[in-house]
Amino acid sequence: MPPVEILKDIYWVGAIDWNIRDFHGYSVDRGTSYNAFLLMDDKITLFDTVKKGFKGNLLENIRKIIDPTKIDYVVVNHVEMDHSSLVPEIAELVQPEKIFCSEMGKKNLLAHFHTENWPYEVVKTGDSISLGKRTVQFIETRMLHWPDSMFSYIPGDRLLISSDAFGQHLATTERFDDEVDLSLLLGHAAKYYANIILPYSNLVQKLLAQVKEINLAVDMIAPDHGLIWRKNPGKILECYDEWSQQRSKFKALVIYDTMWHSTEMMAQAIMEGLVEEGVSARSFDLAVSHRSDIITEVLDAGALIIGSSTLNNGMLPQMADLLHYMRGLRPANKIGAAFGSYGWSGEAVKLINTIMEEMKFRVLDPGIRVQYVPTQDDLKKCVDLGRKVARTLKEQV
Ligand code: FEO
Repeated sequence: MPPVEILKDIYWVGAIDWNIRDFHGYSVDRGTSYNAFLLMDDKITLFDTVKKGFKGNLLENIRKIIDPTKIDYVVVNHVEMDHSSLVPEIAELVQPEKIFCSEMGKKNLLAHFHTENWPYEVVKTGDSISLGKRTVQFIETRMLHWPDSMFSYIPGDRLLISSDAFGQHLATTERFDDEVDLSLLLGHAAKYYANIILPYSNLVQKLLAQVKEINLAVDMIAPDHGLIWRKNPGKILECYDEWSQQRSKFKALVIYDTMWHSTEMMAQAIMEGLVEEGVSARSFDLAVSHRSDIITEVLDAGALIIGSSTLNNGMLPQMADLLHYMRGLRPANKIGAAFGSYGWSGEAVKLINTIMEEMKFRVLDPGIRVQYVPTQDDLKKCVDLGRKVARTLKEQV
């Protein structure tokens, strides 16, 4: 993928990763990109690098514009390895005059690469540097996505180089939001938010307030993954505002893992109850649903009804995996209920309830446990549970 001039003298010089499918547990079914940007000015500046393994793509792209050894400055907006693993090789090749990073960025670069003698230049929110005709302002964005993260803002162009924030894991030959289907793009942006940014939603709210307060004018948002927001920067800011408020819709999910279909029968009955009450309901069998797709649906769902058969005094392993993943992402404002079949001990429902309580879900009911195979009466109780959850949700949204 050749370089793309995104604004006069500012180039995308990143790499497309068509083949990645797992990003630390997140299923990236459409691959991703590692975006790096080269700004040509009196001080030629490279913003971020790409993942190791894509060195050839980065250097080839830079060479189409300039001899990489002419680069003066390197900005490290984020130290996670998908953006910084080539910093040592770039530093060696380029011998930059300065490497700009946040204070935590310096700490984390040292902790990753153990190199004291790089020309670190620590910057903080409000600092700006002149590159010649253009200036760059820095905004620290701790925990979006790591403690070291920061944005680089180029006021003359109203360009925000936003690191992980506002990204999508989506590999395309197109580079801009207006070149692809907006609903596809927003779907991937939502999946990215739910699987990466969600635990830091409070910080997103603070950041958006800060952006408003300092009156940051933004015409283009260039994240480090996926497409650049050229036509619709306001749209993704609006979505981040909505997603980070974690407001729930009148939407419920039934998520289950089943051993011999009894828990599945219960799930179907619960769905029936939800549908009878008019809630938008979706059912996920963990045998065929990936955790990261479920979390995407959790983002705006108001209720989660979670079921597992009991196996060896616990829940089924895929349910344990999902709940472990979900707990780390800290979804808020959910109603919860549990269900499941068992043979002789039946701990799964209690264990699911405990985890939902840890996640501060409003657990509506002790849950439904059925020994071996549900009777018609058991299934009727499941329908009633679906109805109860839907009615409670209706009052809440
Ligand atoms: Fe794309 Fe947090 O790294």
